[in-house]
Amino acid sequence: MKRVWQECIECRSVYDADAVRYRCDCGGLLEVSIDIESLGDISWERFRSRRFNVWRYIELLPFEDHEHAVSLEEGGTPLYKADRLAEWLGAKNVYIKYEGMNPTGSFKDRGMCVGITKALKLGARGVACASTGNTAASLAAYSAKAGIPCIVVVPKEVVALGKLFQALLYGAKVVRLHGTFDEALSLVWKASEEVGVYLLNSINPWRLEGQKTVAFETVDQLGRVPRYVVLPVGNCGNIAAAWKGFKEMEMAGLINEKPSMVGIQSEGASPFVDLVKEGLETLRPVETPKTVASAIRIGRPVNWKKALLAVKESGGLVAKVSDAEIIQAQRMLASLEGIGVEPAAAASVAGVKKLIESGDIDADETIVCVCTGSMLKDPNPELIKGLEPTEIVPELGLVRDLLASLLSR
Ligand SMILES: Cc1ncc(COP(=O)(O)O)c(C=O)c1O
Ligand SMILES: [Zn+2]
Repeated sequence: MKRVWQECIECRSVYDADAVRYRCDCGGLLEVSIDIESLGDISWERFRSRRFNVWRYIELLPFEDHEHAVSLEEGGTPLYKADRLAEWLGAKNVYIKYEGMNPTGSFKDRGMCVGITKALKLGARGVACASTGNTAASLAAYSAKAGIPCIVVVPKEVVALGKLFQALLYGAKVVRLHGTFDEALSLVWKASEEVGVYLLNSINPWRLEGQKTVAFETVDQLGRVPRYVVLPVGNCGNIAAAWKGFKEMEMAGLINEKPSMVGIQSEGASPFVDLVKEGLETLRPVETPKTVASAIRIGRPVNWKKALLAVKESGGLVAKVSDAEIIQAQRMLASLEGIGVEPAAAASVAGVKKLIESGDIDADETIVCVCTGSMLKDPNPELIKGLEPTEIVPELGLVRDLLASLLSR
C-alpha cells in the first residue's frame, strides 16, 4: 500500500488524504505527500513500457492505480527542440514543452484529471472553480466526462473567447462575475466550503499532483535534466507543481540533479516577481492587474508561498515582461517554429529573451520553456495587429504577382 497524506508546508501538521480542506488550521497551504520509500520498484524502463500520458507515472501519483481515473488522455505533450527560436534568443539548446496539446488545450488538464478523480473518490456531488479561463475549460470537460455538475466563475471582462466557448460547450454553468479573478476565487472558495461543493482551483493540492507530471515528462523526453525550466506564473501553482515533480524524481532515485525554476510574470500583474526581487516578507497584491496575457491576470496569487520555495530551493530566478514583449515572443515562436501559444504561454519565451540579454541565464545551457496553452484559446484581434490579411479582387494578375513575389525574396 502506498502511504499518502496531506501536510501543511508551514507547520507540517498532517491531515488524512481524504480530509476535504484547502488550508491547514494554521492557515498554511497544504501539499499531498507520498511516502516515496514505500513505492518499491520504479524506473524509467518501467514507465516507458506504458502509454505516454499522465498515468505513465502512476507510482508517483497519489492513487494505488488508475483503473477508475477520469481521463481524456492528458499529458504526453511534445517537447520540441526549437533551433530557429534559439537563434533569435541567442541561446544554444532551447526546448518547448507544448502544453497546448492537452485535451482542452492547456496544462490544466494534467491537474484536473487527478482533481476530478479525487472528487469522485470523495463522493463530491458538485465541483466549482474561479478561473481566468483555462481552469474553467478544463474543469468543464472533466466534469462532463465524469458526469458531475460543475459551476465555473470567470471575471466578466477579461476571459479569452475560446475558453469561454469551451466551458459553455462542455456544459458547465458559466457565471460571469463583475469583478476580478481574485475576487471570484475568494468568493467561490468561501461558498464552496459553506455548501460542500468540491473546489478545484490550484489551492486544491490534488490538482498540483497531476501538474507535477510535466517535470517527469520533460526528463523522460529529454533523457536528462535541463539546466532551466521556465514557466509563466499566475496563481503560482504550476511552478510549484513542476518543482515538486523534480524533487520527487530525485527522492525516487530517477535523477541526481535538479533544474533552476524560472518564473515569468507580466509587468501589469507581477506581485510574485516583485516579492522575489524586492525580498518582501509577504505578498503585496496588485488590486487591478492588467495584461494582454489574460490567463495570468492575477493580482493575489494564492500559492505564492509554494512558488517562493520552488524558486529559492532551486536557485531559480524571476522576471517580468511587457505586453509588447509577450506579443513579440508569441509571434516569433509561431513564425519560427510553427508552435502556436496563447499570450500567457509566450511569457515564458519572452522571459528567457530578457534573462539571456541581462546575462542572468547562461545561454550555453539547456533551457526548457513550458508553453502552457494553445494559440486557439485566444483569437484576440489585438494580437494580430500589423499581420492582417491582404485584400484583393478576383483577378489572375494580382494572384500571379503575389505568388511571384514569394520567389523574388
Ligand atoms: C495558459 C496559462 N499559463 C500559465 C498560467 C499560470 O499558472 P499558475 O496559475 O499555476 O501560476 C495559467 C493559469 O491560469 C494559464 O492558464
Ligand atoms: Zn499549518
